[in-house]
Amino acid sequence: MHFTLPYWTGEILPIYAVPAKRSALVTLFERFLTLPEVHITRDYPLVAHSTHFALSRQATVEVRPIQGFEAEELQNFFESVVMALPCYSAEAKAGELAKYTAHELCDRIHDDLESVLVARVHDKLVGFCFSNKDDQAIWLAWLGVHPDYRRLGIGKLLLDRLEQRAKRLASHKIWCDSRTDNRASAALLRRQGYEQICTLRRHWYRQDFFIWEKFVV
Ligand SMILES: CC(C)(COP(=O)(O)OP(=O)(O)OC[C@H]1O[C@@H](n2cnc3c(N)ncnc32)[C@H](O)[C@@H]1OP(=O)(O)O)[C@@H](O)C(=O)NCCC(=O)NCCS
Repeated sequence: MHFTLPYWTGEILPIYAVPAKRSALVTLFERFLTLPEVHITRDYPLVAHSTHFALSRQATVEVRPIQGFEAEELQNFFESVVMALPCYSAEAKAGELAKYTAHELCDRIHDDLESVLVARVHDKLVGFCFSNKDDQAIWLAWLGVHPDYRRLGIGKLLLDRLEQRAKRLASHKIWCDSRTDNRASAALLRRQGYEQICTLRRHWYRQDFFIWEKFVV
């Protein structure tokens, strides 16, 4: 079973099921018996995590810079992801939402097109990645995936795409934070080769954060 994954560059790669993933795939399949189809990404089985999740057999994940007309949709999506986060205080959520309005997103891409990346599956907005140039490094400001599309490799694809951006900018390093109790974020960053370099106690919004870094060259 395979499908193709078009990268933003237009390159089309064949995607195959990974045999090592088979037992996990079977387990997940048994857990979601009501869902009839299994879909494969480059490294991960695209398996439904909720009954709302519906992909056709020929699934595609597109990761690319946002376009201006998508900014309002992204603002709403960002808000839904942030508001659902248990590890951010109300004050932190309000502060972050104010930074990523549609207007602000348009300003960001006006200055730096690739600073806002989106992931779409069959035109549905399922992920985003915000980053800033930071004196030759890249600061990964936010990464989010739609709850129904998590553990399908989309976060990894966004981080892969961010590394391409860093290399294009001749940047040597990506760095970022994560809340100390955000286990999904820590697991993804570690899996992608980020190193946890310190803990900041009572930092942004008086909350605790890990700081991570990854050298890309
Ligand atoms: C963190 C987040 C972006 C991960 O996105 P995702 O698309 O689900 O991640 P991926 O499917 O690419 O995961 C790749 C690997 O990361 C690790 N990982 C990701 N989520 C995990 C979780 N909840 N528990 C354990 N490991 C996890 C796994 O090793 C996974 O590989 P596997 O599925 O083969 O085991 C997503 O959970 C999210 O949007 N959370 C809410 C927003 C957020 O917290 N953003 C980060 C703020 S710093």
